[in-house]
Amino acid sequence: MDMTTSIVDHTFRKDVRRCFDEQAYAIPARWLYDRRGSELFEDITELPEYYPTRTETGLLLDHGSDFASAIGKGRAVIEFGSGSSVKTPHLLRAIDPAAYVPIDISGEFLEHSAAMLQDDFPDLPVHPVEADFMRRVQLPDAVAELPKLGFFPGSTIGNMIARSSVDLLRSMRETLGIGSQLLIGMDRVKDRQVLLDAYDDSAGVTAQFSLNLLDRINRELDGDIPVGKFRHVAVWNDDYARVEIYLEAQDDVTFSIDGTSHSLAAGQRIHIENSHKFGLRDARLMLRAGGWTPLEDWSDERDYFTLILAEAHPYKHAP
Ligand code: AVJ
Repeated sequence: MDMTTSIVDHTFRKDVRRCFDEQAYAIPARWLYDRRGSELFEDITELPEYYPTRTETGLLLDHGSDFASAIGKGRAVIEFGSGSSVKTPHLLRAIDPAAYVPIDISGEFLEHSAAMLQDDFPDLPVHPVEADFMRRVQLPDAVAELPKLGFFPGSTIGNMIARSSVDLLRSMRETLGIGSQLLIGMDRVKDRQVLLDAYDDSAGVTAQFSLNLLDRINRELDGDIPVGKFRHVAVWNDDYARVEIYLEAQDDVTFSIDGTSHSLAAGQRIHIENSHKFGLRDARLMLRAGGWTPLEDWSDERDYFTLILAEAHPYKHAP
């Protein structure tokens, strides 16, 4: 077992304990992405109801020449939470970068996606970094002197509450430095039913993705949660402009995790994910709050999804 595995183990255990011991009934969404969860998420991206991936990929393909002029050649592209990196080749082809640095907390996925990408771009220096990008990341020396472009697609920022998303944008600014650019994907506020269907598909894949978290607890934390007694619930919270995902106990249930017994009453919900949606002004305000000046944005014709290019300017005195 390597170092990172044990850190992940420890934090997962701590987060799950807090959920049940302190009756907080919330587990951070990052734990949805073990191997099985990442596979299920890949399946989600192909569902007819799940528009974000397809829409964002379309934007990357359609606006290559805009990226070429606004970003230019020779940057080091730093991708935050690269996962399977399926969208990255479209961007790289458009801007002809000098290096590519995928950052991911899971070394396993990182090596795989770095190798896949290297196949497509044999001459591009690729420097994977295994790290938690929620904090400032030490970039490889090889890219220290290069101009940088952060890439944060998928509306992953929507998984965070406002305070954490601004913290993340600020740490990205520290990681990349003044003068850097950031290309970030944000999912837009839209018709409620379109949103709910995207997070509760008719084939039940999103439900499997959510329920896998309980399987993961059983597998990794010696649990015996009766997974079949829980159901996936997606709710639109209009005040927070987000889809909230819960696992709801269908019956009174008793189970143990790590040798400790817990009981949940029928109807008790465990909050496992938020997916915030943004208006264009919300998006720009959030970027500015995190130290990034919006430069340009690109949306599809339905305004379902937006890519925003921003730059880290030096802080100025403000009135
Ligand atoms: C990976 C966070 C962008 O919020 O749309 C998809 C995760 N969860 N379906 C999203 C997700 C359920 C996804 N992000």
